[in-house]
Amino acid sequence: MPFRSKLPDVETTIFTVISRRAAEFGALNIGQGFPDFPIDPLLAQRVTEAMTDGRNQYAHGDGIPELRRAIAAKLSQAHGVEVDPGDGVTVTCGGTEALYSAIQATVHPGDEVIVFDPAYDAYEPAVRLAGGRCVRIALQPPEFAIDWDRVRASLTPRTRLVILNNPHNPACVVHGRETLDALAEVLRGSKTLVLSDEVYEHVVFDGRRHCSVLSQPELRERAFAVFSFGKILHVTGWRVGACVAQPALMREFRKVHQFNTFSIATPLQVGIARYLDEKPESWSGLSEFFQRKRDRLVAALEGSGFRLVPSQGTYFQLLDFGALSDAADVEFADQLIRHGGIALIPLSPFYRERPTLRLLRICVAKREETLDLAAQKLREFALRQPRALA
Ligand SMILES: Cc1ncc(COP(=O)(O)O)c(C=O)c1O
Repeated sequence: MPFRSKLPDVETTIFTVISRRAAEFGALNIGQGFPDFPIDPLLAQRVTEAMTDGRNQYAHGDGIPELRRAIAAKLSQAHGVEVDPGDGVTVTCGGTEALYSAIQATVHPGDEVIVFDPAYDAYEPAVRLAGGRCVRIALQPPEFAIDWDRVRASLTPRTRLVILNNPHNPACVVHGRETLDALAEVLRGSKTLVLSDEVYEHVVFDGRRHCSVLSQPELRERAFAVFSFGKILHVTGWRVGACVAQPALMREFRKVHQFNTFSIATPLQVGIARYLDEKPESWSGLSEFFQRKRDRLVAALEGSGFRLVPSQGTYFQLLDFGALSDAADVEFADQLIRHGGIALIPLSPFYRERPTLRLLRICVAKREETLDLAAQKLREFALRQPRALA
């Protein structure tokens, strides 16, 4: 039957393409962002108990009160931000649903949304399904600095949202307070809202501190902040996240949320809330935990021919292969899968206008054995490159 697609040009994502190729060639698939190590047994126990305690029916649509209180307490402790768990926090189906519902709640047909490239792939389709249009501003490696004149020039009366991702995946940079202040200054006097994707809030390296949009008073008034327990508790498959916003914005958000996912798996919410009650600072060592993994990989690849500017945060590290090959990143990633037995994610597909880049993204949220094996495969592949032998 002829069918008119709403997203005709959205093909399978780069993650699916790479995963399929990795499976085809039996390659180590280490580009995608999910941990391969076990979770805290106490967390699994608390979720199991929630099921056996009979907490198996629909949860409150906004999220169970205990979990919303735990989220508010964590924001206060971690970022010094006070939020009302009653009308300022909603539990969502991962960060992804929070992003989607915030976009559907705010973007009208014909509206524009500013997105910085390289951009996480969930933003643009959600904007388009709302009838909006993304205005994409490309950031250049290695700093991926935001050109505020460009942002200012891109703002129009139709600009409904600016989407900021901090810590940034896949650029692996962390924006500080000056970025938030600059954004506040640029948006002053406008009706533009901010959607702040902060799912990696607790994965920032080398003594950096995460600056939540909620800690910038001007931005806070116009912001939705998005968080994810997947990234905090190593449970990306549980799909539990949160959106935090001022009550007026949250009211609109909840109108969409209730007809989107309605409510989130009850035993998961109960289990996470009980776990956080017992271990309220379980997230506090995450930066050190992931930094050790990043450092291990960076050290293991020293002198390999791959150049690594240490990641500032997130699950990821970028690898520059420019000293080894002139191939474009998509082509080099394919060569790595076919001849190196390892699958990484090229950076250029995260841009609308694909630049010529020689950067690949690798996930460091892995066991030490996985990281060591990845480094070994990359070193061996690098040695076989003609330029490495020259
Ligand atoms: C930048 C960014 N935003 C949002 C998400 C989605 O988070 P969740 O898995 O909780 O839906 C991810 C997941 O990888 C991400 O990297």
